[in-house]
Amino acid sequence: APQLVQNHLLSLKDYSSSEILDLLSLAADLKKPENKYLPLLEGKVLGMIFEKSSTRTRVSFEAGMLQLGGHAMHLSTRDIQMGRGETIADTAKVLSGYLDGIMIRTYHQDTVTELAEHSSVPVINGLTDDFHPCQVLADLLTIQEHFGTAAGKKMAYIGDGNNMANSLMIGAAKVGMDISIAAPAKYAPKPEMVALAQEIAQGTGAKVHVTIDPVEAVKDCDVIYTDVWASMGQEQEALERMEHFKGFQVNEALAAHANENYIFMHCLPAHREEEVTTGILEGPHSVVFQEAENRLHAQKALLVALMAN
Ligand code: CP
Ligand code: NVA
Repeated sequence: APQLVQNHLLSLKDYSSSEILDLLSLAADLKKPENKYLPLLEGKVLGMIFEKSSTRTRVSFEAGMLQLGGHAMHLSTRDIQMGRGETIADTAKVLSGYLDGIMIRTYHQDTVTELAEHSSVPVINGLTDDFHPCQVLADLLTIQEHFGTAAGKKMAYIGDGNNMANSLMIGAAKVGMDISIAAPAKYAPKPEMVALAQEIAQGTGAKVHVTIDPVEAVKDCDVIYTDVWASMGQEQEALERMEHFKGFQVNEALAAHANENYIFMHCLPAHREEEVTTGILEGPHSVVFQEAENRLHAQKALLVALMAN
């Protein structure tokens, strides 16, 4: 397993390019059918704290731990005392006494950081309002499988400049893939996130670009990526957002500007006929279910790297 300098995965910004590439090759190895059940984490237990809903993250981590000989525990904040005000620090210290790793899906990135500060076992970010690093590991694996390498390819991300956009910018920059983000001005990624990605990109030669023009972003791209217009926790903004995101739908007309052999990606869940048409989501360029499956393989690699011995 790759030796990670970090004991946690809070954001991909903390991992070097080679650590990320090593994780992806371990993931590809663990994906081979003959390696599906390897007792690399025998007897180890992962706790998974969820403050938001999840299908993929929950099921892939739980299945992955079992396939590695360990166990995973679903801890909804509706059930555990953290949801009733027990501090993050106390939760971290208590859980560290029982568990070998903690995954957390929550709102504020600071919550994940604080949990990691007080935890003596690895902490994994399973999505915050700012980042979704586990998803991007799976996305990079999918791109590698499809094109051989992500380096030198170009991704167009069309939509909200929040967690997926931030993590994709960082991930792309780390592996030398160009990325162009098209978002309505009001929902552009935060300047500090763009600056961070651009700084990382200087080391790999990748280009990070932000525009309000989806056609400009998609031009000559190899990957079109989108995500929902209203993320978890923003349900009450859905109507207002729909107004602003008009014109940012991934459809045939927009995709016509991409390279001929482009792939379409989406972290899922998708809202058909909003951010993407059914035709594109289910069409011949779409790799969304391969991408979803790769959550399992990428996370098994991460779990092994963080938790084996
Ligand atoms: N893509 C993703 O994280 O999906 P879930 O919300 O179902 O975990
Ligand atoms: N941006 C979405 C991603 C879900 C996997 C959200 O935060 O709800």
